[in-house]
Amino acid sequence: MFTSGTRQLLAKSNKLCLKSGSYLKTFSAKFTTCDLYALVEPTEPKVVTENSPGPNSLKIQAEISNFQDIRPMIFSTGIPFSSSFISSLPFCENSFSQISSIPLGYNHHAILDVCSSPEMVLSLANRPSLTLLPPTNWADKLQNIHMKVAPKGLTNVFNTVDGSSANDLAFKAAFIAYKEMRGLPDELSEQELSTSMDNASPGSPDLSILSFRNGFHGRTMSTLSATRTKPIHKVGIPAFKWPAVDFPQLRYPLEKFEKENAAEEKRCLDQVEHIIKTSKTPIAGLIVEPIPSEGGDLHASNQFFQKLRKITKDNGVVMIVDEVQTGVGATGKFWAHEYWELDTPPEIVTFSKKMQAAGFYHQAQLRPKIPMRQFNTWMGDPSRTLIAGAIISEIESQSLVEKTKATGDYLMSHLKPISIRYNKLVQNVRGKGTLVAFDCPTPEYRDMFVSLMRSEGVLIYACGNRSVRFRPALIFSKSHVNVFLPRFESVLNKMYKQLWS
Ligand SMILES: Cc1ncc(COP(=O)(O)O)c(C=O)c1O
Repeated sequence: MFTSGTRQLLAKSNKLCLKSGSYLKTFSAKFTTCDLYALVEPTEPKVVTENSPGPNSLKIQAEISNFQDIRPMIFSTGIPFSSSFISSLPFCENSFSQISSIPLGYNHHAILDVCSSPEMVLSLANRPSLTLLPPTNWADKLQNIHMKVAPKGLTNVFNTVDGSSANDLAFKAAFIAYKEMRGLPDELSEQELSTSMDNASPGSPDLSILSFRNGFHGRTMSTLSATRTKPIHKVGIPAFKWPAVDFPQLRYPLEKFEKENAAEEKRCLDQVEHIIKTSKTPIAGLIVEPIPSEGGDLHASNQFFQKLRKITKDNGVVMIVDEVQTGVGATGKFWAHEYWELDTPPEIVTFSKKMQAAGFYHQAQLRPKIPMRQFNTWMGDPSRTLIAGAIISEIESQSLVEKTKATGDYLMSHLKPISIRYNKLVQNVRGKGTLVAFDCPTPEYRDMFVSLMRSEGVLIYACGNRSVRFRPALIFSKSHVNVFLPRFESVLNKMYKQLWS
């Protein structure tokens, strides 16, 4: 490690190197990336513009908008990251992590190391069609990276490009398995083959995927039919006429509303059972997020999910657990559904985001009997798998899942008393690991809160109708919480003054 004088000097020259884009060339020989990371991690967010987005971001927004619709932009990150390496972005963005998809913060040494390896260079230069012409070491990568963290009971993995395609292709897997799940012979008749070319039954059967209201599963054509968060996501787009059921809306504190919450969960489970038994288009699969996130960070008890599993199993319905947002450690378990302690695993678990590689794990019986019924050109990307490998090793060697649980508990232990002191603004505090959320009384107060936090240098994000969610990287620690808390209270004080004094 370096003395503080050396650090300053290095930080200065590092800045120059980064500006000239020669960071790897200049430093990789002399220092490990770990040294560089430690050298430049900021201790607190620094807001340098009066408004957000600031003038630089607005200029970048205007430039991009010549070619793309960039209206959702929050601010420009300085990516390709040369300047973010030394800016306060890693901290201030820590609560949001590129929509919950950054596992180890920015420029983590483990990821930089694998990205600068010869294996990565070759992987990037020669992207293969993995199912037709896989590299010689692909079985090794599958076994030692993807399968190393496979959910219990799931022995196969299917690679895709993002969260939506993971769910989309999981739906296809459920449809293909429909007959098998019911013990029917799975040969395809001449009539099925020919009618499929006209999108007609029986070749294109009227089967459906059951999803929950307030669930988000992506925005491709099929996943949008199962997504039920905001109308603006869906309006004007043709959809499969698939049914939906309510996700429990629990009341807090949980200890006080045990009876009411049990009744609410039963009400939703009854809906599931009723629809599966009576739907005109048979239900081939059911998709559920362990914590519906975009829909407001909703929680349900382990018993709820255990009963859901039993209903799906008893009725031959493929259970798809969408862990795109909850997976890879953020809840204090590697997979959030581990909390449920199911007797039998779900048939499918989908992943993306913090894995930096996407796809779904599945039971062996869901492998189609006829090859190429599930197929794409790339079917994943070995370079993303290498990054996933670095992430998984770092999570294991640094016990990041356990640390995330401890950080989450620490955050909650502060949020709960704050929610008592500021109960007009901070309500229904809930969470697992660092996937923590609370409600504001109205969408307007929530939006005001999010915007004031941004001016404090903390990017925290909205979800649902009136909720706020934390989505930090797995390196988010107690010290980050300690930097967050005074800014949080300062915003709450400001709002109290403005609204109620
Ligand atoms: C639970 C869940 N599923 C699926 C998706 C879709 O993933 P992607 O945006 O990578 O297509 C998201 C995205 O936020 C998500 O949160």
